[in-house]
Amino acid sequence: MCPFDPIAEYKAKTKKSAEWFQIAQRHLPGGVTGNVKFYPPYPVYLKRAKGSHVWDLDDNEYIDYMLCFGPLILGHGHPKVMDAVRKQLDRDGTPIFGAPHELEARMAERLKQIFPFADAVRFTNSGLEATLHALRVARGAKKKARFAKFEGAYHGCYDEALVSLAPGLEIAGPEASPVTVAGSYGTSESAIRNVQVLPFNDIENTERILRAHKDELAAVIMEPVQRGFVVPDIEFLKAVRETTSELGIILIFDEVMSGFRMEKLGGACTSYGVDPDMICLGKIIGGGFPCGAFLGKREIMDMVNPVTRGKDERVFHGGTFNGHPTVLTAGMATLDVLAEPKTYPYLNKISDKLRDGLNDLFSRSGFAAEAVGPCSTFNIVFTKDTISDYRDAARCDSKTRQKFDFGLLARGFHFHPDKPFYTCTEHSEKDVDHTLKTAEEVLRKMKS
Ligand SMILES: Cc1ncc(COP(=O)(O)O)c(C=O)c1O
Repeated sequence: MCPFDPIAEYKAKTKKSAEWFQIAQRHLPGGVTGNVKFYPPYPVYLKRAKGSHVWDLDDNEYIDYMLCFGPLILGHGHPKVMDAVRKQLDRDGTPIFGAPHELEARMAERLKQIFPFADAVRFTNSGLEATLHALRVARGAKKKARFAKFEGAYHGCYDEALVSLAPGLEIAGPEASPVTVAGSYGTSESAIRNVQVLPFNDIENTERILRAHKDELAAVIMEPVQRGFVVPDIEFLKAVRETTSELGIILIFDEVMSGFRMEKLGGACTSYGVDPDMICLGKIIGGGFPCGAFLGKREIMDMVNPVTRGKDERVFHGGTFNGHPTVLTAGMATLDVLAEPKTYPYLNKISDKLRDGLNDLFSRSGFAAEAVGPCSTFNIVFTKDTISDYRDAARCDSKTRQKFDFGLLARGFHFHPDKPFYTCTEHSEKDVDHTLKTAEEVLRKMKS
């Protein structure tokens, strides 16, 4: 019998993607427009999508669990989103006015209803911009340059946010006092100096470090659910909230990923009942178009207010495409569907069915593996240990995960190898049954 070689199967099935990869590399470094989109030997190049399914250049059909790394919570081309966008373009006669328009304040009001701790909103064009501007506002408000972030957290791809994103464990320092490590070649010294790194899910050491640096820190920025799947201990979240309040440090929740992907409308702050001072959103609020937003308490958000603050005492916030009408239209239509009473119960049901089904398969097949994550996002980790921070995740068996991933990719399931799975309201029971049946076959082959 031939040994199981899922990468060879993948290559045999995706010949046109392999060819296009060669062409794309002539023009784009690595054949992609962002490194996250690359995976070896080459990524699948897609050409069409509908609902929970996508098609590649070879006309292979896949059930999509990548969903653009999260935004497409209603699947591809949801009719209500598509209709709303077409109508907006026809009605307004332009994709964008460039001047203020009504939808900006309406969408801001909508987001404030969902995140009631927030008094004001500003839009951006990406999650990256949301965290960048939120941090600048916090620094302006506190008149301090440094901020703290947790090891392993992603807040966008600028120097300071990338610090200690995925440090090699051999250079990351002690678990209790992580060392500040540049996240990219070319990172400036000042970016490293400006960031204090904290250990996720570790109350005692997080508090100790915050107290030691309290006079320098403007803000703590954190993903309450790290990388979409490392869930926080609720006591840890509460402790971060209490300590930052006591020390006068602004707490920013980066919910670009976890926003609207918990079990109900809202974010991790809603589900865990812990309010930050500011929240960053992205992904889902653009309904498949580029979008971000930062929200916060009045006194903090007023730092950018040109009515109440003079030029020399306010924080700069700009962006040609901020609050883009088409983007906000798609986002509003998405929120409308998410707010329907049946949406989250269905999304939870289908997500649980997939996650629990995979976990059942792992235990029946004797693999030390788990599908971990709170709701409609989860990751698959090959380990017998509990995942409570970046280091636990980094120690997982990535070779076995790679076999599992390519076994599924070669059999018609689209997701990014080694990254989380995302579910959407268009995933059907049939999709999930088919996924589980195929995952069982792949696991059997991995054993043989
Ligand atoms: C938690 C978090 N913050 C920020 C970002 C950056 O968002 P964007 O890719 O829209 O710039 C991401 C992207 O994955 C994210 O997951």
